[in-house]
Amino acid sequence: MRITSRLRRPDAAPEAQGDELTAELSAFYWQAYDARMASVGFLATARQFPGLVGHAMRLSWQANRHDTAATIALNLASGVFTGYALFATTGVLEALFTAGPTPARVRAALPSLVLVAVAVAVRSGLQSAAGWAQARLKPQVERVVEVRLLDLTTQVDLSAFDEPGFHDAMQRARDRGVYAAQQVVSEVISCVTGVVGIIAAATVVAVLQPILLALLVVAQLPGGWAAVRSARIGYLTSFALADSRRRKWILSDLMAERRTAAELRSFTLRHFLLDRVARLAAYARDAELAAARRQALTRVTASAAGGVATAGVYIALGALLAVGALPLAVAGTAMLAIRSAQASLTNLLYAVNQCYEEGLYFSDYLAFCADAAARVPPRGTRPAPRGFDRITVDRVTFTYPGASEPALHEVSVEIRRGEVVALVGENGSGKTTLAKILAGLYRPVAGTVRWDETAIEDVDAEPLRERIAVIAQDHANWPLTVSHNITMGRAADPDMLAAAAAASGADTVIGSLPHGYDTLLDRQFKDGAELSGGQWQRIAAARGFYRSAPLLIMDEPTAALDARAEYALFASVRGHAADRSVLIITHRLASVRHADRIYVLGGGRVIERGVHAELMALGGQYAELYTLQASQYDP
Ligand SMILES: Nc1ncnc2c1ncn2[C@@H]1O[C@H](COP(=O)(O)OP(=O)(O)OP(=O)(O)O)[C@@H](O)[C@H]1O
Ligand SMILES: [Mg+2]
Repeated sequence: MRITSRLRRPDAAPEAQGDELTAELSAFYWQAYDARMASVGFLATARQFPGLVGHAMRLSWQANRHDTAATIALNLASGVFTGYALFATTGVLEALFTAGPTPARVRAALPSLVLVAVAVAVRSGLQSAAGWAQARLKPQVERVVEVRLLDLTTQVDLSAFDEPGFHDAMQRARDRGVYAAQQVVSEVISCVTGVVGIIAAATVVAVLQPILLALLVVAQLPGGWAAVRSARIGYLTSFALADSRRRKWILSDLMAERRTAAELRSFTLRHFLLDRVARLAAYARDAELAAARRQALTRVTASAAGGVATAGVYIALGALLAVGALPLAVAGTAMLAIRSAQASLTNLLYAVNQCYEEGLYFSDYLAFCADAAARVPPRGTRPAPRGFDRITVDRVTFTYPGASEPALHEVSVEIRRGEVVALVGENGSGKTTLAKILAGLYRPVAGTVRWDETAIEDVDAEPLRERIAVIAQDHANWPLTVSHNITMGRAADPDMLAAAAAASGADTVIGSLPHGYDTLLDRQFKDGAELSGGQWQRIAAARGFYRSAPLLIMDEPTAALDARAEYALFASVRGHAADRSVLIITHRLASVRHADRIYVLGGGRVIERGVHAELMALGGQYAELYTLQASQYDP
């Protein structure tokens, strides 16, 4: 615990340089550093160690059981031969140190010498084989670990992505945790080898002179302490820097990506961004330099103490010789055994330290996986309905994670089969939020969404989402082919593709592309094409039509479309809704005047509802906005 208090707040910590960015980062740094400090003490980690080893071995077994078994067995066998070689060396030395003519002593030593040579050769062979198996295991473990991570990140509840803490944890798991997992597997195996080696060497020393063994162990303690402490400093620094590192990566992506290259230039943002990156980099550099200095100090202190202790071992050996407690021949063997035991101890300490260090990162990975698994929506208790006669949103309230105000207050909306329902309202009024709740992407804090009698919170998320098509306001432009951009992972049916493209107006776009539906929509690759904003929006709309789901949600589907395309799309919507339902969100009020029902949202509440004529007669916000838009055409 003393280490803990001395590690706190190192003097050369990253300084807040008087500007907002670094001041904010600095506060976060210490918060993260201190919070984590408590849980990564050596004893706390040692207690978690068996669990970590268990996880590592399970992963390894899952990746490839044959390679795992081979690695452990071969390492164990090679450890046994190391010990055997040492014992055989004792035989050689004893023969050489006996009295008599030199040729006779050498001859006497020969059988033991042959044994040593054979043992060393066998051990080398076993070590090579073990190294090969261990090397094979690495990429296999890495694959299992990575797939598991992405399996979880794609399943967690969408709201997790609104939490900064989740992003930090995810970054640590992706950035370092995946690598650490295979490293821990490897180091656990090295520990096994180290332990076998040390048992062999220590047995030899103990048999020769038990006092030497005790001294030997004491001599290694400073090194062990230094290794553990400097690993912890390194880990805590990297833990606390996660947030600033993520900010830097986001910035460096923005500065090196095609998506932002044009705007960066037209707004001459270069210097502004470079300055921010430079400050973030300087901030991380200061933290890392401070850590490096403290690690170096730790190591110097430990080396000095270790040197004194090693000198003590040799002085003790000399004293034992001087008082005649140790014959010269045995002292020679003891010297060799001490060196071998010291080498084994150093190796073991290194492996244990690596295990500790990588184990800290690996535990981040495990903690993230456990947290993500807990965020996977629970399985539903009822089968997903195939369709509906009526969807009822009943007094739904929703607050985004960390937000102080709810984005929706007791909103009630109804959509019947065959209807086109419009959602309108000013920016930030909650339209997209409501659409996401209807799409089953967010769960309401209070209130329910029902498909007839079935509350959607009782239903598995994925089967329900299969029955809903969403054209999102911020739809992604996937760097895939046109066909994949429309089918979105479903089997491609040429007739359905053609129908969806015609309904959205994407057909004319696709007709002009060099490879039609097979054109790759990413200019960063050979033969890749780029579309205009409106062309992309048509492709995104085609996605919604292709899915042929009973509920189609369109959030601002025409914001980028030309007048003709917009008119055509709204005409398609009517046809599409013949036996399905469409929820449409738009600011172009003229396009929804024929909707079966219009809801006006304001400040997260439904403030008006009805058909166009009713809302106009009401003279509220709808009438005001409609008249405002109309006046631009007909002043
Ligand atoms: N992921 C989020 N986390 C926190 N708050 C959010 C999030 N998304 C939206 N909000 C907030 O919720 C409120 C409603 O946003 P929403 O996107 O639903 O508005 P909207 O009606 O779709 O607006 P627009 O017409 O601009 O698309 C806004 O105040 C917004 O700032
Ligand atoms: Mg919106």
